[in-house]
This record gives sequence, structure tokens and C-alpha cells, in this order.
Amino acid sequence: MRKAVCPGSFDPVTNGHLDVFTRASDLADEVVVAVLINKKKASLFTVEERIEMLQDVVAPLGNVTVDAFHGLLVDYCADNGITAIIKGLRAISDFDYELQMAQMNYRLSKVETIFISTNPLYSYISSSLLKEVGTYGGSIEGLVPDVVHARFVEALKSQR
Ligand code: PNS
Repeated sequence: MRKAVCPGSFDPVTNGHLDVFTRASDLADEVVVAVLINKKKASLFTVEERIEMLQDVVAPLGNVTVDAFHGLLVDYCADNGITAIIKGLRAISDFDYELQMAQMNYRLSKVETIFISTNPLYSYISSSLLKEVGTYGGSIEGLVPDVVHARFVEALKSQR
């Protein structure tokens, strides 16, 4: 497989995402982690902050870069020579929507979607759950990369 994309909101990146990027980097020659610019969705971190954190965490992976996109993912793929979308599947609850998107993306432009089964260590983690736990003072240590942890705690504090 040549160039693949791992798309998402990554608000912020978790250890579950990082596991998927690492495994994707073994499957594809090149991987782009692409942050969706979605002005309609409230986020804890700006797109620039999310990109900065992602760049830090993928730095050890030689063939992974970070970018942002807006509009349709398939258009981003076509513009950037990307032939596959790689995503993590945590549980059956992810499956319905992910399958729907994979089928739509294939119909739109024949881009394939490859699902990586999430490491069970991370299958219950989502950025939104971590934000909820963190907001009420719960520990999210070990669930996000260290570089994200400090910024996450600060961002949640400044929201109080
Ligand atoms: O981390 P998320 O928010 O679950 O990621 C969702 C994402 C960004 C992968 C998905 O919403 C997406 O691909 N959006 C881009 C717009 C698009 O192409 N929509 C049609 C999908 S079939």
C-alpha cells in the first residue's frame, strides 16, 4: 500500500489514536494524519494546537506526517495521491457509522477503507470521554501521550 490517511478530529490525540498511527505506519509507505477543520463543532484545542501535539507524538514514526483538511475526505485523498483511509475500530458501536462512511467514500471515489482493530488496552478511550472525565477532575494519566497530558490539564483548568 502506498499513501494512506488517518483522518479525525483528534481533540486531543489519545494513546488509542497513536496505536493506530503506529500500526498504519507499518502497513503503508506513507501515512498522513489529517485533522478535520470543522468550524461547526466546538473543540477544546484549536486546529493549530492539535496539529502541534500530533506532530510531537508522530515524530518518532519516520513515515507519518500531519496535515489539516476541510470538505470531503475523498477530495483531500484525490488531491494528495492517497489511496486508502485507515481507521481504528474500537467496538461494535463504532462499526455502523464507520461502515456507512467507508461505503460512501468508496462509492464517491473508490478510496478503500482499512480498519485496524483497536488494542483492547485502549478500546474504551475516546477524546470526548477523556474531556468529560478530565473536566470533573478524573485522572486521564496513561490514556494520552505525555506531551498531551500537560496541555490537556491546563486547557481544562482554563475552562473552569
Ligand atoms: O474523529 P472523528 O470526529 O470521529 O472523525 C470523523 C471524520 C473526520 C473522519 C469524518 O467526519 C470525515 O471524514 N469528515 C470529512 C467530511 C466527509 O468526507 N464526510 C463524508 C464522510 S462519508
